Amino acid sequence: MNSVAICPGSFDPITIGHLNIISRTAKMFSKVIVVVLMNSKKSGGLFSPDERVEFIKRCTADIPNVEVDFYDGLLADYAVQKGAVAIVKGLRVLSDYEDEFKQALTNKKLAKDVETIFMVTDTEYMFLSSSVVKEVCRFGGDISDFVPPEIKDDIIRRIRER
Ligand code: PNS
Repeated sequence: MNSVAICPGSFDPITIGHLNIISRTAKMFSKVIVVVLMNSKKSGGLFSPDERVEFIKRCTADIPNVEVDFYDGLLADYAVQKGAVAIVKGLRVLSDYEDEFKQALTNKKLAKDVETIFMVTDTEYMFLSSSVVKEVCRFGGDISDFVPPEIKDDIIRRIRER
């Protein structure tokens, strides 16, 4: 089946937890579009949208059915434009669920033919988020187990510049 799935997020920056969800999604759909979107609850990002896209491209270069994009608008509109059948979101802990559930219901209202699928994180990534990466890096901790090796040095450099 020719099916397109969207993996959305703010990806500031992409972590190995995100990458795990993306690569598992790529095994289930013929095409996966990883799209960087704006989260109005998160301001003052560490990386620009273009940088985030470039990082994701670097980290997914070996997954042939993954494309990367940026969209400055509603996820539901983007999914419809791309003919996607599903939005795939990773779920880590119970506290993720409330907000994700509300987003899924909103997206369903805006785009009734696009399903949201929640993929449960692999246990080793339960604690991991872009915010954890930035916090650990800011205080000199080792982020090698948190981010793909392709982007580790860029993250350290940017945090040091700040
Ligand atoms: O990685 P995040 O920050 O949890 O991802 C959230 C994101 C960016 C997917 C979400 O904020 C989003 O969909 N933003 C685009 C604007 C939109 O469609 N908002 C309505 C969703 S309720």
